[in-house]
Amino acid sequence: MSGLPAARRTVLKGAALAGAAGLGAAACSTDSKLGHAKNPTPTAPVELGSPDAVPVGGAKLYREQRLVVSCPAKGQYKAFSAQCTHAGCVLDKVEGNEGNCPCHGSRFDMTTGEALHGPATVPLPAVPVKVEGGRLVAGPDA
Ligand code: FES
Repeated sequence: MSGLPAARRTVLKGAALAGAAGLGAAACSTDSKLGHAKNPTPTAPVELGSPDAVPVGGAKLYREQRLVVSCPAKGQYKAFSAQCTHAGCVLDKVEGNEGNCPCHGSRFDMTTGEALHGPATVPLPAVPVKVEGGRLVAGPDA
């Protein structure tokens, strides 16, 4: 039975990792209660390229610009900060109309900014957006 100890080691290693993750989550919720999550929105207009990059009925993440843009219907756009309202991580992906935060698993509705799954509870702030000269522009005066 030489394989059994190796299997037990794997299980124990997994349990240790789960414990470490649990500690991280506990520290994180303390931060959240203290309101440390900052959520800056653009202070100047940000050009995001062709509006065709945003799928109708879906959304696109502009991670570098810390923005997400959704398109609920052809020609209609909504933009939100892509910085999680929990502890400030930038969302890492959009699946359909849900944005995912890689840090602690919060998920946001890309058409309203609403937090669908915690630990975040505060919606993503909306950012004005418009199409100007065939380009999407988000931020003040948009
Ligand atoms: S920063 Fe904690 S879930 Fe996004």
